[in-house]
Amino acid sequence: MLEGRQVSLWIATTGTTRYPSLDSDLEADVAVVGGGIAGLTAALALKRAGSTVAVLEAARIGTGVTGHTTGKVTSLHRLACTELADRHGPDVARAYGQANQAAIEHVARVVAEEGIDCDFRRVSNYTYAESEDALARVRDEAALAGRLGLPAVFTSDVPLPFDVRGAVRFDGQAQLHAVRYLQGLARAVDGNGSHVFEDSRVTSVRDGVPAVVGTGSGTIRAREVIIATNVPVGDAGLFAERCYLHRSYVVASLAPAVPLDGTFISVDEPMRSILAIDIGGSRFVLAGGEGHRAAEAGDAAERYRRLAAFSRERLGTGETSFRWSTQDNMPVDGLPYAGTLTPTAAHLHVITGLRKWGLTNGTAAALILADILSGRHNPWSAVFDTNRPSAGHAGGVRQQPDQPPKSQLPDQPAVAGLRPGEGTVVEIDGEMTAVYADAAGDLLAVSAICTHLGCTVAFNADDSTWDCPCHGSRFAANGTVIQGPATMDLAPRPAPR
Ligand SMILES: Cc1cc2nc3c(=O)[nH]c(=O)nc-3n(C[C@H](O)[C@H](O)[C@H](O)COP(=O)(O)OP(=O)(O)OC[C@H]3O[C@@H](n4cnc5c(N)ncnc54)[C@H](O)[C@@H]3O)c2cc1C
Ligand code: FES
Repeated sequence: MLEGRQVSLWIATTGTTRYPSLDSDLEADVAVVGGGIAGLTAALALKRAGSTVAVLEAARIGTGVTGHTTGKVTSLHRLACTELADRHGPDVARAYGQANQAAIEHVARVVAEEGIDCDFRRVSNYTYAESEDALARVRDEAALAGRLGLPAVFTSDVPLPFDVRGAVRFDGQAQLHAVRYLQGLARAVDGNGSHVFEDSRVTSVRDGVPAVVGTGSGTIRAREVIIATNVPVGDAGLFAERCYLHRSYVVASLAPAVPLDGTFISVDEPMRSILAIDIGGSRFVLAGGEGHRAAEAGDAAERYRRLAAFSRERLGTGETSFRWSTQDNMPVDGLPYAGTLTPTAAHLHVITGLRKWGLTNGTAAALILADILSGRHNPWSAVFDTNRPSAGHAGGVRQQPDQPPKSQLPDQPAVAGLRPGEGTVVEIDGEMTAVYADAAGDLLAVSAICTHLGCTVAFNADDSTWDCPCHGSRFAANGTVIQGPATMDLAPRPAPR
C-alpha cells in the first residue's frame, strides 16, 4: 500500500476555477491555446501590451503539467550551462541563462503588480555533488556560469541535512505555489475585452487572415494564435520528432522539523530534486526524481517508494501526504521552442520543449512570443526560435513511429482478472482494445490504437490513463484525450463480457 494521496500538493491545496466554456464565435487579437504557465504568461503580456486575448483551456487552469511541477523558479538548471556551452557554444548558454534570469524577475514583478498570493519566496538554488566526479562538474558549472554573468558561486556550505561535497549556488532565485500563480495570471487576463475559457478543448487550428481556432462549440477568429499546449496539438512542425516526453515523480511529505533553506537538485544519480514549502500551517518537503522517458515502462509504485525512502532517511521527513507524476517535452537539441509553428506559418506560433524547467523557460518563451507579436525586439528570440538550425527538421515528412519493443511495455493482465481501477490492453476480434474496470468493476472498452499515429497505448495504473509510448499522448480511462499531440479521443468499443 502506497502512502499519500495521488494528487499534486498544488492542486490539492487550491480551489478550482470556473471560467465558462466557449459556446459561440468570437474575435480577439490573439487566441492562446492552453492555460498553463506558457499560455497564461503570453496572454497576460499581450494584454498588457494592448491586445485583446482569448485563452482556451481544455480542462481547468493549473491541471496540466504546471500543476504537477516542483515549484522552483530558477535559472540554475542542474548543469545546463556546461551542457549548452558544450553543445552550442558559450553565447547560447549565456542567452539561455539570461532569458531564464529575466523570467524570474518577470514572475516576481507580476506577483507584486497583480497581487498574486502564491507563496512566492526568494531562495538560493543549489546543484549539489556527493561524489568526487560530481564535485568536479559543479565546480566547472559554477566557474562557467560565473563567466557568463549568471549569479553563480561554488560553495562547500550546502544547507542540506546530509553531507555533500559541494554545490554550485545561484542566489536571488525563487519558488512558488504553481497553481495559485496560474490562477492569479488567469484572473489578470480575464476581463476588459479579454477572456479565459475552460473546458474548451481546441480541435482545429487554421492559419490565415484571420487565423481560426475551433472547439466543438465555438470558434475564435484572431490575428495571431499561440499554441501553448505543452505538447503541440496536431502534427504541424513535427515537434513529436524534435522532442521526446520525459516523466518524473514527486512525493510531498510532512516535515515539521526540517529547516531547508533553499531548493536543491543532485548531480549524482539517482537524481533528486528537493524543495520545502509551508502551506496552511504545515511544512511539506518535496522530493522529486525517478525520471525516465515516457516510452519506458516501469513500476511507478516502486519509484514512489524509493522517493519516500529518500525523503524519510535523508531529509528526515514524516509520512508522505501527496504523490504525483507528470511528463514534460524535452527538445532534442536542449533548447526550448518559441516561434512559428512551421517555417511557413504566418500567424500560428508555438511554445514547447520546456525541458522540465518550464516555470522559467515557459515564462521566457512566452515573453519572446509576446515581444515578437507586439513588434518589440527580444534579445533571446534566436536561441528559442523554432526554425533555428539545430532544431531538427521542421518541414520534413512525418515518419511512422516505431512502437517500443514489447519488453519495454508493462505486462498486461487478462481482462477476467481486472479489479476496479485496473486496465489492460488485449486483442478482441482482431483489434487491440483497451479495457478498464471502473470503481464498480464494470468494464469500459476503447480502441487501444493511439489517434495520433497509431501506436498501441498502455495502461498507466498510477493515473488511470492510457498513455502512448510513441509521442506521449495521454487519454483518460474512457478514452478522452488529455494530452497531445493526439487531438481525437480513443474510439469506443463494445465492452467484453
Ligand atoms: C515532475 C516535474 C517537476 C517539475 N518541476 C519544475 C520546477 O521545479 N521548475 C520548473 O521551472 N519546471 C519544472 N518542471 C517543468 C514545468 O512544470 C513545465 O515545463 C511547465 O509547467 C510546462 O508548462 P506548459 O504551459 O507548457 O504546460 P501545461 O501546464 O501542461 O499547460 C498546457 C495546457 O494546455 C491545455 N491543453 C492541452 N491540449 C489542449 C487543447 N487541445 N485545447 C486547449 N487546451 C489544451 C492543458 O490542459 C494544459 O492545461 C517540472 C516538470 C516535471 C515533469
Ligand atoms: S502519440 Fe504519436 S502515436 Fe501516439
